Amino acid sequence: MSAKVRHFLQFADFDAEEYAYLFRRATWIKRKFKAYEPWHPLFDRTLVMIFEKASTRTRLSFEAGIQQLGGFAVYLNTRDSQLGRGEPVEDAAEVISRMSDLVMIRTYKQEIVERFAARSRVPVINGLTNEFHPCQVLADIFTFLEHRGSIRGRVVAWIGDANNMCNTWLQAAEVLDFKVHVSTPPGYEVNPEVARVRPNGHYEVFADPIEAARGADLVTTDVWTSMGFEEETEERRRAFHAWQVNAEIMQVASPEALFMHCLPAHRGEEVTAEVIDGPQSVVWDEAENRLHVQKALMEYLVLGQMGE
Ligand code: CP
Ligand code: NVA
Repeated sequence: MSAKVRHFLQFADFDAEEYAYLFRRATWIKRKFKAYEPWHPLFDRTLVMIFEKASTRTRLSFEAGIQQLGGFAVYLNTRDSQLGRGEPVEDAAEVISRMSDLVMIRTYKQEIVERFAARSRVPVINGLTNEFHPCQVLADIFTFLEHRGSIRGRVVAWIGDANNMCNTWLQAAEVLDFKVHVSTPPGYEVNPEVARVRPNGHYEVFADPIEAARGADLVTTDVWTSMGFEEETEERRRAFHAWQVNAEIMQVASPEALFMHCLPAHRGEEVTAEVIDGPQSVVWDEAENRLHVQKALMEYLVLGQMGE
């Protein structure tokens, strides 16, 4: 029965044509929203949002987004639901998906969203796992498109941890045919098996972050310590201090290069205030675009392609 249900658990779940559709649709939905024209294709539908980790942008953009599409959101977290008390994820999926039209999950292991989706009667969206953050990269590429046009054939420099954001960029490069130049400190390298990409396919590894950034069309980074790795904070501060996006890094990138960060950011750690608050930074557009692309995503998962 669930064979026809589509999920968005990693960037590789959709192909380039589907992304082209989603970006066109997000542009249309964003324009309508800015003109205060109501659009309620998900009237009366219910989105369940499950959070095992903290969030500002993801919760807000999904909750506001489903309401703007005419539906409702239910927020569950592991502190005050049975999800944190050992109920099997398959049982939770059976129950939750009988009472809703769409589910968004932010959790630790990717395996959890996959087990949930395997038993869900409704589409499941990955709102961040240790391995992937596909909704964020969807917003980031839409933001690049708005500012610079197609990302095909471009170079994205990833400076820092080979985390969920980095893995998702690597998958996106394969699907949308661009390159990622990655520089991580020793000991924090990309693991292609975890990222589920071909080793060195659409990415190249650089020991020196300056070399990774040279000529790049987009420079991006993320926190040195992701959620769930807090006990490594001090060790990571020492290992990552030279992997900071600063003026020197931006200077070797293309003069047209954009700077992106999924946020929340730590000024003075992975990025300087000068860069994140500077003229090449598009971080607020990135954050806003979470709303618009996820509205297109929710509409697509529940209703399929709509006339444009
Ligand atoms: N970028 C992002 O996902 O932010 P939140 O952790 O605030 O949801
Ligand atoms: N890599 C970060 C992203 C936060 C949105 C984390 O997982 O904590």
